[in-house]
Amino acid sequence: MSVAISLRDVHKRFGRREVLSGITLEVAKGAKLGLIGPAASGKSVILKLVCGLDHPDRGDIDVLGESVVGKREVQLGDLRQRIGMLFQNYALFDFLDVKGNVAFPLEQRGGFAADDIAKRVETRLRAVGLAGSEHKLTGELSGGMKKRVGIARATVADAEIVIYDEPTAGLDPVTTQKIYDLLAEDQARTGATVLAVSSDVVALAKFVDEIAFLYEGKILYRGPAATVADAPDPIVRQFVRGDLEGPLSKEKTQEAEA
Ligand SMILES: Nc1ncnc2c1ncn2[C@@H]1O[C@H](COP(=O)(O)OP(=O)(O)OP(=O)(O)O)[C@@H](O)[C@H]1O
Ligand SMILES: [Mg+2]
Repeated sequence: MSVAISLRDVHKRFGRREVLSGITLEVAKGAKLGLIGPAASGKSVILKLVCGLDHPDRGDIDVLGESVVGKREVQLGDLRQRIGMLFQNYALFDFLDVKGNVAFPLEQRGGFAADDIAKRVETRLRAVGLAGSEHKLTGELSGGMKKRVGIARATVADAEIVIYDEPTAGLDPVTTQKIYDLLAEDQARTGATVLAVSSDVVALAKFVDEIAFLYEGKILYRGPAATVADAPDPIVRQFVRGDLEGPLSKEKTQEAEA
């Protein structure tokens, strides 16, 4: 098994609060791992550490065979271009229009002809249902539209690793399913390694191969996505079924079980 992302005994604290207290997690090349856990449990922190946007207090993180720990921005440049990331808060550039935001990773990487960039951007925008919005500024977009621009940007350069932080938060069920279909289609085409965080556990579980459950600073469970609702640990089951602090409603779990 070739490993794309590997965290070993990662610790991270903010002030007095230890958010991650020994995270060990591997994602094989080409695999799709879903990361779930209660609000403020450190899911986004893990994603940021993997991208080298923040650094752990202790532990190692390797991405595509390279350590990202302690590296400065300039040293991470090449590796970053091999990673596509959708941020929870979109992190779109407000000085660029929709088209400019989606084209950004291609322009950063360089070596693409202008008409190739235009074609790729157009294809991506059509795929996320935003054809016709090319020239809108981010301030003119709804939350769901920003999410879709972020997805187009994360996938436009066929990155080897794609990281999604809440790709469907705030979207209606139909759009949510469309987005997951798109992510699945994309991953099947590129064979990218995927690490995805979502509070919509049911939709996420249909997309990923495996689920890891983050709880009180540790990975409490990791196993096949299809059987996460029957995990041996009652805390995992309660969370997935919506009885523990977490956004998944019982209704949805019952629907999924039906
Ligand atoms: N840069 C930071 N400085 C201080 N505290 C931080 C920072 N980043 C994250 N935290 C804290 O770390 C904890 C975990 O945050 P994180 O954003 O990873 O949660 P999460 O699991 O993604 O939650 P959510 O489901 O709400 O997105 C929170 O208590 C948050 O306040
Ligand atoms: Mg988060």
